[in-house]
Amino acid sequence: MPPSPLISIEALAKSYPMGHGIVEALKPTTLHVSAGESLAIMGPSGSGKSTLLHLLGCLDSPTSGRYLFDGQDVSHLDDSALAHIRAYKIGFVFQAFNLIPQLTVLENIELPFVYQKNPPSNLSDRIAHSLEKVGLSHRLHHHPSELSGGEMQRVAIARALASAPRVLLADEPTGNLDRTNGTTILKLFMELQEQGTAVIIVTHDATVASYCQRTIHMQDGSIHV
Ligand SMILES: Nc1ncnc2c1ncn2[C@@H]1O[C@H](COP(=O)(O)OP(=O)(O)O)[C@@H](O)[C@H]1O
Ligand SMILES: [Mg+2]
Repeated sequence: MPPSPLISIEALAKSYPMGHGIVEALKPTTLHVSAGESLAIMGPSGSGKSTLLHLLGCLDSPTSGRYLFDGQDVSHLDDSALAHIRAYKIGFVFQAFNLIPQLTVLENIELPFVYQKNPPSNLSDRIAHSLEKVGLSHRLHHHPSELSGGEMQRVAIARALASAPRVLLADEPTGNLDRTNGTTILKLFMELQEQGTAVIIVTHDATVASYCQRTIHMQDGSIHV
């Protein structure tokens, strides 16, 4: 038997109450993503891209359907079990970097682990290694305001990498960057993908999507083929 995919969703759906009705933000959707695969999610605003990304990232629970992540059924886990999976298996990168201005680069990367009961014992090695990967070892004690946009996004990626994620999820990661910095970020994602991390990028930009091995298009809460 071939190895099962890292990510396997079957008829996964999410709806929100809205007035007297509901909004089907994600209609029953089936999708499989392997370790070391890169996938772009495209589609117009409101088509369900972020909803899908949040479900894939265990930031949210589905209304119905099944989600197998890394061999585990995560469809019905409670918040603390989901938080544990996020901290150890999933990395997030957002358009707005989401760094805390008062903290140094090192402290920003440490932050997701501060609230963990059992932070990895080799955390400082992991942080050093992930900063090295993004080429920012010399910025450890700088604050975000001392960095360029491209450098801030690389710190955000280093923060995501410190948990040694199986999948890196990015929502418009180059949306606030110029082309040169955007290209640097995309090349970094593709290096990670080649090293076996699944990379899933939500983007409006066909050039960004062209870096990925596969693209899906969403429309009205469904994958549109
Ligand atoms: N928390 C929420 N409550 C109510 N409706 C939501 C919520 N999140 C998303 N939606 C709705 O679900 C649909 C899909 O949203 P979203 O996944 O954010 O789309 P996209 O990321 O493609 O712009 C939209 O109609 C949006 O208004
Ligand atoms: Mg969105």
